[in-house]
Amino acid sequence: MNDKTPDGRGAKEHERPRIWDVPTRAFHWTLAALVAWEWASSHLGHGFMRYHMWGGYAVLTLILFRLSWGFVGSHTARFAQFLRSPRGTWEYVKSWRRGAPDIHGHNPLGGWAVIAFLVSLTVQVGTGLFATDDVLTAGPLNALIGSRMADWLTTIHKWNFDILLTLIAIHVSAVILHRVIAGHDLVRPMITGRAARPMSPVVHHAFARPWVSVLALALSGLGTWLILQI
Ligand code: HEM
Repeated sequence: MNDKTPDGRGAKEHERPRIWDVPTRAFHWTLAALVAWEWASSHLGHGFMRYHMWGGYAVLTLILFRLSWGFVGSHTARFAQFLRSPRGTWEYVKSWRRGAPDIHGHNPLGGWAVIAFLVSLTVQVGTGLFATDDVLTAGPLNALIGSRMADWLTTIHKWNFDILLTLIAIHVSAVILHRVIAGHDLVRPMITGRAARPMSPVVHHAFARPWVSVLALALSGLGTWLILQI
């Protein structure tokens, strides 16, 4: 007798493989909270700009961490595992005609979304380091450049946030479409770490050891500190 519902509820835990490790999940939700904080703190007045900059340093540390985790992290977090060529990505898109493919980890489009987010976040933080409101607040590297260049980078800092918002809107829409069209729940695995549905045969992904993530985070924090010393 099959006691599972179509979305996998009722399935035994071992049938739902672990796909996201703790560092990747912590990275995802901390980054989401920090981007929301960066938006809020930039609109709360001058008194909050100091915390806006601290939040930005935390985002910079997360970017450096995710870059390193893409090489030394768990199987599903590695760039080599989920990045595909444009042709491979197009093959994936076409495969939807036969129904949603069962992919555990990032699908090729999601892989490109990761890269787009990392690039946009790097532009956001990179320009923020030089930005100024011409009144009370200036990024820590603002003194290294002239005022025209600083104004230009501040403008990019504001425009790029709209690009970041667009990426977030596409990302959330894709998650909702997966749910509505294919019945795939992508949110629960990013919280629990396990696939939402059973898999047959069960695939066991290789997970990195916790101390590797602690070391990667520590080195990322050091990298942020070094950048601020320029
Ligand atoms: C993911 C990281 C960041 C996000 C999402 C973000 C977002 C924003 C947003 C939405 C604004 C307001 C733009 C507007 O007034 O329309 C802003 C302003 C500003 N940000 Fe950031 N920011 C980030 C990182 C940083 C960093 C790292 C610094 C410097 C250390 C920084 C320094 C500034 C400054 C100085 C302004 C004021 C510009 C002005 O009011 O003319 N930001 N930021």
